[in-house]
Amino acid sequence: MSHYQIAVIVGSLRRESLNQKLANAVAKLAPAEFTFKQVAIGELPLYNQDDDANQAASVKQLKADLLASQGLLFVTPEYNRSVPGVLKNAIDHASRPYGKSAWANKPAGVMGVSVGAIGTALAQHSLRSILSYLDVPTLGQPEVYLQTKEGLFDAEGNIGKDSLMFMQVWMKTYVAWVKAHNV
Ligand SMILES: Cc1cc2nc3c(=O)[nH]c(=O)nc-3n(C[C@H](O)[C@H](O)[C@H](O)COP(=O)(O)O)c2cc1C
Repeated sequence: MSHYQIAVIVGSLRRESLNQKLANAVAKLAPAEFTFKQVAIGELPLYNQDDDANQAASVKQLKADLLASQGLLFVTPEYNRSVPGVLKNAIDHASRPYGKSAWANKPAGVMGVSVGAIGTALAQHSLRSILSYLDVPTLGQPEVYLQTKEGLFDAEGNIGKDSLMFMQVWMKTYVAWVKAHNV
């Protein structure tokens, strides 16, 4: 395979979202053969099983974008020690109707940044549990638990110097792992 498209799912809709900034900065570390493209989850309706036979256009688009990808990257805040509702809503939508999930077998990276010291660890573990049920293999190491601090991003929105080498190693590992899942 010569080109890999990664669907990026950001769990925050906030204008100044740190996780959005992280997703943008991480994408810049990707090699030329990888494209990181964010999928839209902010306009999805609230999931209602009654609509499974007639999914909204935004849901169909989300599922098409996921199915067209060779891998996933979840970048999410922690809300009340779990995943934000907006992210769970998107996961539920794309998992249905039963037997027609768009998630299965897409290798996923998981990361997040938080104001809290444990750097979204509990949200990520909750997310990994959900993804396991959906047959989404997740990259185990290196884990990425970031706490926001001065210099996490530089003035151009790149990963700051203190975390740069760590995130470059993460990207190298993730790229090799996605390739291994797409032979
Ligand atoms: C509803 C809500 C719940 C939150 N719960 C947690 C939490 O459990 N752990 C944590 O570290 N931060 C928590 N925070 C703080 C977030 O880490 C912080 O708002 C962060 O900037 C959100 O990510 P974002 O910048 O990408 O929007 C919470 C924030 C909100 C709005």
